[in-house]
Amino acid sequence: MTVLIDFRGRSVHLRPKGRKYPLLIEAIIEAGGTAKTSSITALAAILAERGYKVLALDLDAQCNASMVFGWHHLDPGQKTIYDVILGEARLHDAIVPARIQVGSEEVENPDDPDGEPITVPIWEAIENLDIIPSSPLLKNADVDLTVKQSRFNWFQNEMDEYEGDHDVILIDMRASYGRLPASTLVAFEDEDIVLPAIMAGTKGNIALGKLQAELDEIREEFRRGRAFPARPNIGYLLLCGVPTGGNKRGNDERLAVDEVVEGEYGHLLLPQVRYSDQAQAIYRDECPMPILAPSSHQSKDYNEVATALGFVKREKSEGDPDRETAAVAVA
Ligand SMILES: Nc1ncnc2c1ncn2[C@@H]1O[C@H](COP(=O)(O)OP(=O)(O)O)[C@@H](O)[C@H]1O
Ligand SMILES: [Mg+2]
Repeated sequence: MTVLIDFRGRSVHLRPKGRKYPLLIEAIIEAGGTAKTSSITALAAILAERGYKVLALDLDAQCNASMVFGWHHLDPGQKTIYDVILGEARLHDAIVPARIQVGSEEVENPDDPDGEPITVPIWEAIENLDIIPSSPLLKNADVDLTVKQSRFNWFQNEMDEYEGDHDVILIDMRASYGRLPASTLVAFEDEDIVLPAIMAGTKGNIALGKLQAELDEIREEFRRGRAFPARPNIGYLLLCGVPTGGNKRGNDERLAVDEVVEGEYGHLLLPQVRYSDQAQAIYRDECPMPILAPSSHQSKDYNEVATALGFVKREKSEGDPDRETAAVAVA
């Protein structure tokens, strides 16, 4: 069982308290455009590349993370996280590999075999990285979770019955609170990581205060009558889009704002993610930044973040079932 040691020396287990479901990391804060999706998709790609088996959950009706992981268009009949929430699919039925387009080819049009061939993408799966795509219908989830009250436990139930081998589940949450985020945060214990992202220079301390209040409310509401009381904690803070130079006056103002954040939340602050005018390309090219541009500022900085969280590169054999069998045989 792997234990991560973070930059503060705290240990984080990939199976907290020996439970069956993986460590949970959720990007959440009630503010749009604060690099939640950029951060989750970048970290997912880096952890996968370092040998951790990652499951990404897109919990935003905008489906941005699905797009970055190659599922802008779903296959007919493909399940989404919304089907899981409604109880119409199990978590493991909705999992697909994250993928990138590596080319395209012309094939016969199945609807018109005698007509012009059609161009279809050629995909390559990203090793160690799975995703459950979202759906625009997810916008209805709060109503569903309120009307069918038993569905509120969808995430906790799926976690309690989880039997997969992912090391970590990374959740890209929408930009507003309510029943949907609460239904995921109830499964969080002390070691699981609520991971707000804020943009440099944007008075993030106000949004962070509101997040803390929201988490306190969830802890209070789901304290009793549970095997594990809900314990969502702000684990770390991502400060993104940090200026690298340029406009002096603009930078001074940003720094003044960010000092307030650092004063209040400095102990939670991960290595900062620098501003990049290439950041938008993950949506244009539908590819996470560390794969799209591995030597960009952003990719380097997210690599630092992954290391600070304790996700050091794994030896290839560590997760190798053959090796475990061999160890058992020797014993
Ligand atoms: N490090 C960065 N530097 C500059 N722009 C960034 C950076 N990270 C994200 N962005 C941009 O900020 C916007 C919001 O990012 P996104 O990850 O979609 O946020 P969210 O998921 O919180 O809405 C996007 O246009 C994105 O390209
Ligand atoms: Mg987003």
